[in-house]
Amino acid sequence: MPAQSYPALLNNHQGFLHGADYNPDQWLQHPHIIEEDFQIISRAGMNSWSLGIFSWAALEPEPGVYRFDWMQDILDRCAQANIAIILATPSGSKPAWLSQAHPEVCRVLQWQGPREPHRGRHNHCPSSEVYRREVSRINGELSRRFGAHPAVKLWHLSNEYGGECRCETCLQGFRRWLQERYGSLDALNDAYWNGFWGHPYNDWEQVHPFEVIHDGLQLDWRRFVTDITVDFMLMEKAAVRQHSDLPVTTNMMGHYPGLDYWRLAPHLDVISNDAYPSFDGRSDESTSLTQAICDANLMRSLGGGKPWLLMESTPSQLNWTENFVMKRPGVHRREMYLQIGAGADGTCYFQWRKGRGGSEKYHGAIIDHAGTHTRVMREVAEYGHTLPQLEAVLGSGVNARVGLIEDWQMRWGLECAHGPRKNPKHKGYMDEIHAWHHAAVSRGLSVDIVPSNGDLSNYDLLLMPMGYQVDEKLGQALERFVGNGGILITSYLSAHCDPHNRCHLGGWPGSGLRQLCGVWAEEMDGLPDGEVVQVTSETHLPGLAATGRARTYCERIHAEDAEVLARYRSEFYAGEPVLCRRAAGKGYAYYLAARMDQAFLDSLIDAVVEAHQVPSILPQRPPPGIIVQERDNGQQRFLFVHNATPTAREAPLPPGTWTDLTHGSTYRDSLSLSGVDSRVLIWQNISS
Ligand code: GAL
Repeated sequence: MPAQSYPALLNNHQGFLHGADYNPDQWLQHPHIIEEDFQIISRAGMNSWSLGIFSWAALEPEPGVYRFDWMQDILDRCAQANIAIILATPSGSKPAWLSQAHPEVCRVLQWQGPREPHRGRHNHCPSSEVYRREVSRINGELSRRFGAHPAVKLWHLSNEYGGECRCETCLQGFRRWLQERYGSLDALNDAYWNGFWGHPYNDWEQVHPFEVIHDGLQLDWRRFVTDITVDFMLMEKAAVRQHSDLPVTTNMMGHYPGLDYWRLAPHLDVISNDAYPSFDGRSDESTSLTQAICDANLMRSLGGGKPWLLMESTPSQLNWTENFVMKRPGVHRREMYLQIGAGADGTCYFQWRKGRGGSEKYHGAIIDHAGTHTRVMREVAEYGHTLPQLEAVLGSGVNARVGLIEDWQMRWGLECAHGPRKNPKHKGYMDEIHAWHHAAVSRGLSVDIVPSNGDLSNYDLLLMPMGYQVDEKLGQALERFVGNGGILITSYLSAHCDPHNRCHLGGWPGSGLRQLCGVWAEEMDGLPDGEVVQVTSETHLPGLAATGRARTYCERIHAEDAEVLARYRSEFYAGEPVLCRRAAGKGYAYYLAARMDQAFLDSLIDAVVEAHQVPSILPQRPPPGIIVQERDNGQQRFLFVHNATPTAREAPLPPGTWTDLTHGSTYRDSLSLSGVDSRVLIWQNISS
């Protein structure tokens, strides 16, 4: 998105939001604890709490018996103390009395299996009329009482929507959804290529996503799960909107595989994410840093470039990981600056205070069982107190000249297909997305995530690894993009299918990409893990690594109308092309036929940036371990510089004079960073 200044995240709150999930309902019998919470919050440099996320049973202990007094009291005190409340609807955790009286509010995990028992949370049936009615009622009550309360600034719809239900009601809903989508069984049979295995339907009741494994059907089931979730979310939104026009959000989970967030995003006023990267600060964590940035870039992109909110993170340890490694000092601040660097205008935690019992008593929080005299609390407070110094950053965007085309449709299309590898997880779509994103971000490029039906016109460079589903529209958009001077890099396994997962005829890559890239992919070698095929480069692309290693997927391609930039050096296809380029109109299309090692990919990005003068934050790739990000409001530029390693590093700076926003020191050319250090700098606009 072009550099610009955006309105505040919340028009009723100034400054960065710095908050946490707050569960005073666990402590109602311990008023001194709640008293302490109010004393501590500003000491922690914090100004916000997310309230009521799992509070339904505390608000309505018995059907129709409401206890809103405790929440009223908390909200009144928050209003006095100027604490911004993000008020949650409690649908993420239903009261036990509801599951007992109406078991149909629970999910069915296996078709024709039993309803789930009440169990934990996040396990309701999205189609259940009873559950919808009850959620709408409790949301309406919340909104009627607190929707205009001065402390409440934002609605938090449910918690981490996700999962699916396989009950009869959901199945019937799916069949109705198909009827609306396809209109006739003939159209559906054609879309799914149901002649295969003799599977055409002549009655909608025969359509069965849990019994028939055709990939088009499986793909549609995933789409339906998103749509029914959106429908449920809109029901929740309508219920709170009865008495309140406050903005709404819901907390997403990065690249969570189960929901297409592009369909949720347009209904949200604020985009929010939950992020728990496992940084600990003991080794070079560049790859994990860029992976976290990939999720954060997705959040900014989902909102069309506007600032977003990190709703959950932890300043401390995760109880659900294999080990229990502490974040070394400084790691927390780096993690938060990295989120801000990708466009977050607020960073919050799960959770404020550790629950004394239950399943997350070892999960990191700001306040420990021991109290507040902890290193974690100090680090949170230190970070929190830097936030007012960073306020110039608020509202700025990210001027990304690189778009990474990836979305759930591409991913699901590939994962639902039976092959080219058996286990959908081993197909490695997200691994390749992360590898390409890493190559770009570690080079110092700002990257937007672009869905396959997105606007391509803002970018100089588009990356489309494993772009499995390319329809005619996307094919034409890519052709226009390149024709107008854009640079496209795409890869093996691209444009195999249409949106129903039917293969394109006439040779891969389809939808016009064969002509655009000038290559035909005749066949593909799927290598067992650990095996590699050697690659050597020609000399036509300065900066490209001289050699590389291909693994997992190696397509045999023919350069029909393209320049060959690298070739296989081993296997029976030694000497055949692996990387090609074709000039088309004013731009170029590159085709990479194999999954390449990270060093080769990095060098490809470097070489392309150099050859085509793609604008980047730094003139050259920074040394290993240094990651940079930039925000820009059209007038001011802000640089985020991170040391991904535990040892000191020298970070190169872009031309000009840069001032550290937290302590005012100025730098030119370079900056010394201690281990895991992270800085936010503003450009002084003084020509060199
Ligand atoms: C999130 C969830 C929180 C908490 C957290 C622990 O997925 O929304 O309620 O359980 O994980 O990491």
